[in-house]
Amino acid sequence: MPPTIKSPAEIEAMRVACRLAAEVLDFIAPHVSPGVTTEHLDKLCHDYMVDVQGCIPAPLHYAPKGYAPYPKSICTSVNHQVCHGIPGPRVLKNGDIVNLDITVIKDGWHGDTSRMFHVGEPSIAARRLCEVTYECMWRGILAVRPGGHLGDIGAAIQTHAERNGYSVVREFCGHGIGRRFHEDPQVLHYGRPGTLDKLFPGMTFTIEPMINAGRREIRELGDGWTIVTKDHSLSAQWEHTVLVTETGVEVLTLSAQAPPPPAFAQEAIAARSPAASPAP
Ligand code: MF3
Ligand code: CO
Ligand code: CO
Repeated sequence: MPPTIKSPAEIEAMRVACRLAAEVLDFIAPHVSPGVTTEHLDKLCHDYMVDVQGCIPAPLHYAPKGYAPYPKSICTSVNHQVCHGIPGPRVLKNGDIVNLDITVIKDGWHGDTSRMFHVGEPSIAARRLCEVTYECMWRGILAVRPGGHLGDIGAAIQTHAERNGYSVVREFCGHGIGRRFHEDPQVLHYGRPGTLDKLFPGMTFTIEPMINAGRREIRELGDGWTIVTKDHSLSAQWEHTVLVTETGVEVLTLSAQAPPPPAFAQEAIAARSPAASPAP
């Protein structure tokens, strides 16, 4: 199916859902510390989404073809877990890194975002992986513009990951999003500039690179969901939902406490904005 182009009213509804998803991450951040279980984080997020925000947690009972229904409301992927980690009795310990992935449904519209969290004081290697992966996501975001191509996004991410000695997971990708959780197009996190679908204003999709410190190969655990690195190397992921605008890109999953873009992204954003070119 061709990607859906959202109308101005639909874009406004997406902005609301996406901001709410980001605000769940703001809410849960202070709870991510040594000694907490991932199922406790899930319960706190579930209750916040349902009782405070009036949202539906999209992962709960989500069952794409070939998968058993997902049993929890968020994904918690720790250390060498790449994505789709199922919250459970695991206790987070000092030095862990964990991705919390939140998808809400508000008024029928989805917002999808994830961040990495440090549990206590992770190693320099773990922190560097989280930071470079964040830069990879932002390099992908900055590659988005109308008339550009999906391949521009993947190329920007892959180049930065591999220059830092890391590898890009191939089996999972970003995705169109809107009334459905996962829509076309697929947004690969590797590739070549100028290839794949052209980008049009009104498209909404996620950019969510999964970057491994070691080899790119992955495997699925017996729970049917959790993805881990085959070589047990650390893996990190960040995710934003974005809109292709008439002039470039709008990041929809921002919130008061979202981490600021890296310096190179702030400079690129400032250079693009009309305020950067004073009126004659
Ligand atoms: N939020 C994930 C994504 O970014 C999908 C999770 S599916 C679930 O696409 F069922 F595991 F929640
Ligand atoms: Co997603
Ligand atoms: Co997600």
